[in-house]
Amino acid sequence: MPNEQTHQAEHIVREYLTEESTTAIPIVPLSRGFIKEWLAGESADVAAWVEASGFTAEAGHICLLPGANGRLDRVLFGRDEDDPWTWAHLPAKLPKGVYRIATALDAADADWAAVGWSLACYQFIRYQSRKGRDWPTLVWPAAARRDQVVLTVEAQCLVRDLVNTPSADMGPEELAGAASALALRTGGQIRTIVGDDLLQEGYPAIHAVGRASTRAPRLIDLKWGDENAPKVTLVGKGVCFDSGGLDLKGASNMKLMKKDMGGAAHVLALASMIVAAKIPVRLRVLIPAVENSVSGNAFRPLDVLSTRKGLTVEVGNTDAEGRLILADALAEGDREKPDLLIDLATLTGAARTALGPDLPAMFSPNDELATDILAAADDAKDPIWRLPLWKNYRRLLDSKIADINNASDTAYAGAITAALFLQEFVSPATPWVHFDIFAWNPTARPGRPEGGEAMAIRALYRMIAHRHPL
Ligand code: BES
Ligand code: MN
Ligand code: ZN
Repeated sequence: MPNEQTHQAEHIVREYLTEESTTAIPIVPLSRGFIKEWLAGESADVAAWVEASGFTAEAGHICLLPGANGRLDRVLFGRDEDDPWTWAHLPAKLPKGVYRIATALDAADADWAAVGWSLACYQFIRYQSRKGRDWPTLVWPAAARRDQVVLTVEAQCLVRDLVNTPSADMGPEELAGAASALALRTGGQIRTIVGDDLLQEGYPAIHAVGRASTRAPRLIDLKWGDENAPKVTLVGKGVCFDSGGLDLKGASNMKLMKKDMGGAAHVLALASMIVAAKIPVRLRVLIPAVENSVSGNAFRPLDVLSTRKGLTVEVGNTDAEGRLILADALAEGDREKPDLLIDLATLTGAARTALGPDLPAMFSPNDELATDILAAADDAKDPIWRLPLWKNYRRLLDSKIADINNASDTAYAGAITAALFLQEFVSPATPWVHFDIFAWNPTARPGRPEGGEAMAIRALYRMIAHRHPL
């Protein structure tokens, strides 16, 4: 089935963000420390109502203020200036209607108010017969940079839609369909190498990992922009379902593995931002798309695979499949000596054990690049944590019969050894950074429902925009 995206983001921005309206109900943002001072300027009736409601401007809480006629006059909103996600509490708590923020916000806050509101309106309703919830509408805050808001919301919703879609409807072919839809919409070029052609074209590891599935493996290769512009190449892990292969995962670990194409969803979303903002780069996206399946022709533990780069890999564990397909894609990306090579992948459970679901692990041998990304992460309020490419652990991947093993025998430092494996396929001169991401919210928070989630792409977009000004 060809890709059937719901275009959530377009719908959200069209329905729930609106132009100036004279009848919009004002929302008054108040921080906890400021509520007393604010109440002093209001009538005794208002003060009594606020007290009776128990409203103390706690972050995310609201208080509906009636006017003399009993209509909704204003909304008080507890704001935490340090947590932009507080804005996302509003849609679910407010009655249907049109609202505006009563105080002037600076551009960054205005953007966050609009983004937070929009992301709170996201629902994954593709498989539900009942209609989704209808939300209240926000008047665009005056200072908001609308283009930036829209491209951010669209990217975030694209990741959520792609990751939330069950594997049955998001195999390698449908993932390529989503890539192709993006290329069509944004004027990019797409080339896809499918099935046994991967062997002719020199992608043996992608073929080996994906060949056991009835859904053929492929390499998706997208390009945008001027060939002579600086080259930015994004590589995303596209494992459309990770059963673990013959070293099969247990039920509880396998359950969430429809999200193992999260890296691919992230690079498509990040590409959509870069293209929408017309950042002057030659952009390339490489997605090895496979299903890690079990069948008579599946690759096996202790098989030795060849790779695009020529290094041979002994398969210590067929569940360490992501690094195998990324090896071929990274080698191809690296071949044209890009100015920036970024990969995103749901690569290890170990990264999650170390940093939990919200913090992507970043690995890079390039300190300047890592520093730039951490600064952008701070500005974009998109947290990232750097972990080391600790060279002494490379020996954990030594193989007696091949150039390298894909899995270490110890339970230690799993995220680092995975990153060290990838590093073997990138030349030392290439500015390369690897992200080990979760791509999933295990529990719902306002604006961040349970399910697929984008991580690190707002930070990366900011870093790339900063390095390549218009
Ligand atoms: N897709 C998984 C990693 C994963 C698991 C990410 C759970 C997020 C949550 C990956 O392909 C995998 O199975 N990795 C193994 C590697 C091991 C066999 C060396 C892991 O992390 O256990
Ligand atoms: Mn795996
Ligand atoms: Zn995987």
